[in-house]
Amino acid sequence: MASLTVRQIDDKLKTLLRLRAAKSGRSMEDEIRTILRAAAEETGNAALDLIEPPNPPVHPPSSVTQKPAAAAESPKILLIITGGIAAYKSLDLIRRLRERGASVRVVMTKAAQEFVTPLAAAALADGGVFTELFDRHSEFDVGHIRLAREADIVVVAPCTADFLARVAHGLADDLASSIMLAASCPVLLAPAMNPHMWRHPATQRNIARVSADNVHLVGPNTGEMAERGEAGTGRMAEPNEIAQAAISILKPARTAAASIPQALSNKSVLITAGPTHEPIDPVRYIANRSSGKQGYAIARAAADAGAEVTLVSGPVNLPEPPGVKIIRVESAREMLAAVEKALPADVAIFAAAVADWRVAHAGTQKIKKGAAAMPPLELTENPDILSTIAHRTEGRPKLVIGFAAETENVIANAKSKLARKGCDWILANDVSTETGVMGGDRNTIHLVTAQGVTDWPEQSKEDVAQMLITAVAKEIA
Ligand code: CTP
Repeated sequence: MASLTVRQIDDKLKTLLRLRAAKSGRSMEDEIRTILRAAAEETGNAALDLIEPPNPPVHPPSSVTQKPAAAAESPKILLIITGGIAAYKSLDLIRRLRERGASVRVVMTKAAQEFVTPLAAAALADGGVFTELFDRHSEFDVGHIRLAREADIVVVAPCTADFLARVAHGLADDLASSIMLAASCPVLLAPAMNPHMWRHPATQRNIARVSADNVHLVGPNTGEMAERGEAGTGRMAEPNEIAQAAISILKPARTAAASIPQALSNKSVLITAGPTHEPIDPVRYIANRSSGKQGYAIARAAADAGAEVTLVSGPVNLPEPPGVKIIRVESAREMLAAVEKALPADVAIFAAAVADWRVAHAGTQKIKKGAAAMPPLELTENPDILSTIAHRTEGRPKLVIGFAAETENVIANAKSKLARKGCDWILANDVSTETGVMGGDRNTIHLVTAQGVTDWPEQSKEDVAQMLITAVAKEIA
């Protein structure tokens, strides 16, 4: 029997095979075996059809790697990758978007291809990768107008300072910028650049311009930059945040996140999120490491499920979830006052990491050094917001949910918190430094109720939010 090796296959077929193997997660040799096995069971040209499905034909020319279109009901996302170091995260973004049921087409600028290859993007995207404005070699060149028209949303991630400027000024001299001008669907930009570039008045002018054109923004976040020793605002938002923002912008009916469509319509949900800042004097405060990501994700998921959401937020650096009423506060006492004012609500979810103590006598002027001794910081206990609301006899929300941030004896501590605070559910999580929960993107939850404990898998904070909102909708139905 003749033997066939991958090396003996011609280049065009090899490219197709590589794409097919990457998509199915098999080695190229295994992919050939799968095709031959299927061919043995079929007649005629089945083997070739499997490599090159006749409708629509897969025909990747030099600049286009196209795959069959996805099901009509999935939201169609056109992801434009521009040339910044954060482009490597865009590959993960494709996965996060597809996880949420979206079909993803990718456009890459020339500069983006210096950071990631179209082939890598094609292995993850299901709608093809496009790089050229005019492709004379491709009879399947769909053109910028069609790419723009067929998208439900255009997401630009990373969006460099240069591309932002092009969008702000309406330039159209390559495929990506032409699409931006031709798009009539919502547009979401995830800016990513050096903090100095972000702060530059020209960039801020461009941001104001695109905002006035109703372009949505996610990030940039604050933190360490890819360049050694650089930190500040300019980091691209995390792939999960971008994916969630894109899905939230799309109509809930079109989104996979709305797998419980409008399950909370006509319900009001009150959520606390983020840390609190307890002043020491006008310039100093006591705080904690909470990023607010979990509370914000819950607010987005509740809004996606049709709830009227009020989010009482401590100081965080996160984009505002669309369709959510935000009340910004600093201290625990301000948070309690805002929560009480926002009641009544059907459901209250307390995800904030409220400071347990505040400085008893915060200075009204900046405390100066140079005095004989260091100033003592006398602390006094803050009100417990969750407990206060859960113990209300009048106007208590039907379902009161708290979190238990623990570093040891997670379940035992959560059970005693559930009893002590008088809430209905506690979402317990281990926030020890090594878990990376505080400030991170993932969370492992144990749902503690009067009925017992349910362990949820480790998952993204968005998925935790989705699971929680699904459970809430079921409970109050
Ligand atoms: N919480 C609150 N007000 C406070 C303290 C906590 O509303 N002053 C809420 C949190 O939002 C969370 C729950 O109570 O839903 C538990 O918070 P956690 O920090 O885990 O517990 P503490 O009550 O602070 O207890 P400890 O610090 O001893 O673990």
